[in-house]
Amino acid sequence: MNLHTSFEITETGVAVLKLDNKDASLNLLGTSFLKSFNETLTEVSTKPHVKAMVICSAKKNGFIAGADLNELAKINTAEDAQKAARIGQMIFSRIADFKIPTIAAINGHCMGGGTEMILACDFRLAAKEKVGIALPEIRLGVFPGWGGTQRLPRLISLRNALDMILTGKEYNALKAYRCGLVDKVVPDDILNEYAVQFAEEIIRTKGVKYIAARRKKARGVVELLTDKNFIGRFIMLTIAKQQILKKTYGNYPAPLLAIKAMLRGLSKPLEDGLDIEARLFGEAAATIEHKNLLHIFHLHERPKKQTGVDSRVDLIKPQNIGVLGAGVMGGAIVQLLAYKDFPVRMKDIAGPMVIKGLKHAESLFDDLVKQRRLTPLEKQRKMEKISGTLSYDGFQRTQLVIEAVAEKMPIKKQVLKEVEACMQENAVYASNTSALSISELQAEAKHPERICGMHFFNPVHKMPLVEVIRGANTNDKTVAIIFDLSKKLNKTPIVVKDSPGFLVNRLLGVYLNEACLLAQEGYDFQWIDFIVKKFGMPMGPFRLIDEVGIDIVEEVGRILGEAFHDRLKTSTLPANIRQINLLGKKGKKGFYLYRNNRRKAANPYMLKLLPGSRQENNQQVIQRMMYLMVNEAARCLEEQIISTPQDVDTGMVFGAGFPPFRGGLCKWADNVGLKSIVETLRDFKDLFGKRFTPVEYLINRKTFY
Ligand SMILES: NC(=O)c1ccc[n+]([C@@H]2O[C@H](COP(=O)([O-])OP(=O)(O)OC[C@H]3O[C@@H](n4cnc5c(N)ncnc54)[C@H](O)[C@@H]3O)[C@@H](O)[C@H]2O)c1
Repeated sequence: MNLHTSFEITETGVAVLKLDNKDASLNLLGTSFLKSFNETLTEVSTKPHVKAMVICSAKKNGFIAGADLNELAKINTAEDAQKAARIGQMIFSRIADFKIPTIAAINGHCMGGGTEMILACDFRLAAKEKVGIALPEIRLGVFPGWGGTQRLPRLISLRNALDMILTGKEYNALKAYRCGLVDKVVPDDILNEYAVQFAEEIIRTKGVKYIAARRKKARGVVELLTDKNFIGRFIMLTIAKQQILKKTYGNYPAPLLAIKAMLRGLSKPLEDGLDIEARLFGEAAATIEHKNLLHIFHLHERPKKQTGVDSRVDLIKPQNIGVLGAGVMGGAIVQLLAYKDFPVRMKDIAGPMVIKGLKHAESLFDDLVKQRRLTPLEKQRKMEKISGTLSYDGFQRTQLVIEAVAEKMPIKKQVLKEVEACMQENAVYASNTSALSISELQAEAKHPERICGMHFFNPVHKMPLVEVIRGANTNDKTVAIIFDLSKKLNKTPIVVKDSPGFLVNRLLGVYLNEACLLAQEGYDFQWIDFIVKKFGMPMGPFRLIDEVGIDIVEEVGRILGEAFHDRLKTSTLPANIRQINLLGKKGKKGFYLYRNNRRKAANPYMLKLLPGSRQENNQQVIQRMMYLMVNEAARCLEEQIISTPQDVDTGMVFGAGFPPFRGGLCKWADNVGLKSIVETLRDFKDLFGKRFTPVEYLINRKTFY
């Protein structure tokens, strides 16, 4: 028996190999695990009476969780990455070359290298309920390098293989069966017994020839063996490449390298294809984009080990939650809570508003039903968790109230006063304000220590970030409860000290303000949007202003302008546009015109107002917007608005869509070099004004990290 893998042989001659990583709660494929697995393969192969092998997991929580990312992070050169790929390929090729039939019994999640392991087996059986199979490597800036790009398209259609490899999408058991990735779907409880019986049947009924024929197909040149001819494949892969280039402007090398591996490797025998795959995998693993995406992965995982506070506190898990306001945010927050099975009571001031909020929540559930992520019955059960009201009836039962009423301080103070009169003694109150001061809200509260901000981003169901805002008097317990709830809602929380714009809106505020100043200087606003998108942001600044709402941008700009008037030069553009009643997307007109929620064209009115046609100094234009954000992030760290550069990067990537392949704002700044950023900021200060004065934090440090 080896450390992480063991096997038993049944009387009928089936070796049942069990995967059980002793160093981790999941089966992670690190060096030690692979070594152990390889040794076990050798032992099994030397047993003369073994006639078939079943590979299964001893872990209840899944089959294989993928490669050990800590090991992946330590690989720095293309050569080392290529070597690592070759080792994994070699071990899995041993399974494929086994003299006896091999069967994978997949009991749950099977990720990355796990999927590549099962691809090397002759047969794959999947537990019906728990199985999810995926090749998520692309999300980390690499691609499957242990045979995935070569074995998968030999097994299933190229279309499905591309879908899995280029998106990292997870296939459940049924979907995997339908596309031919698994041979049988089996009730979860009997998977391992079934796998042994299946193996016995193979031994009994299928001869050596049958297995050899299956393997020939799995190893050959694709067009000689299947209906996938070279031309068809070439066209499909070329289209996939064009689509990726259009979507990513070439900012992500991994999908392009994966396509290259398939384009070249599938025309050759498997062994040559594996060589090509390993070499290109090495190239992908040595890119800065891969390192940056790995960094983002760690940022995403980081809150799992955090509580949001330094002290130890006893958490309460809210059993009932109240939500004030049934508008855009209220309706979406209520849906999210109900989705996670919290009973929730939603209050507004008028019946039609409550109905609108309920309908909004229902439409979000309907989308999940359409996507088959919920059954109609499950949707109904979750909708039943929500009740609407015009009074505070039922709020006596809530341990937590989330407020999402209109963004006006007097209204926020009034509802707090009303609800405090009927809230439970220890209940916590969280405001979803975008920019109003939590400390000011606390000033007149009965229990200021139990008040904080819980800033969701719009659209709530899509945006992963929650800023937990700590007011001057918020206690640790309140922060920890909201931090914990955010995690339960599958959000990524960061703790931010109460201050104008908190973190994300403060940084976005200076960025959008600079974009407006540029447009007023005569730069073509559509061109600015284009180059910012090319930089990797999900949309340009003017599209973002339309998306958020020109009224809101103006309001946040006003708050920031007042707070930082000594250094900011506030653009007059949002206020001017507001005066003529342009609202952005929600009013169908802003910098662009919208129909059915889709952008149609630039707004002719805006083209008249901003006739500038300058399309020059690309780099300088980008730097003016981005370096101002870097400077502001450094200022936030200096003022301890947030504690670490990780908080900035989490906020900017998960709350503002800063390009993940750049690793977040601070990581990107480190890659550019803080020294060079400081020098450029000094030049900009002379050219464009004191808002570019670099802060001490930036001047004194070599790197953020
Ligand atoms: N919309 C966004 O993009 C966004 C993003 C993050 C945070 N926020 C914040 O969320 C909050 C709500 O914003 P929204 O976009 O949902 O606004 P909204 O105008 O869509 O909804 C506000 C709702 O509050 C209700 N309301 C007003 N007074 C009330 C009272 N006394 N009691 C109960 N309900 C009352 C209104 O009837 C309305 O239904 C604001 O603080 C806003 O700054 C908004």
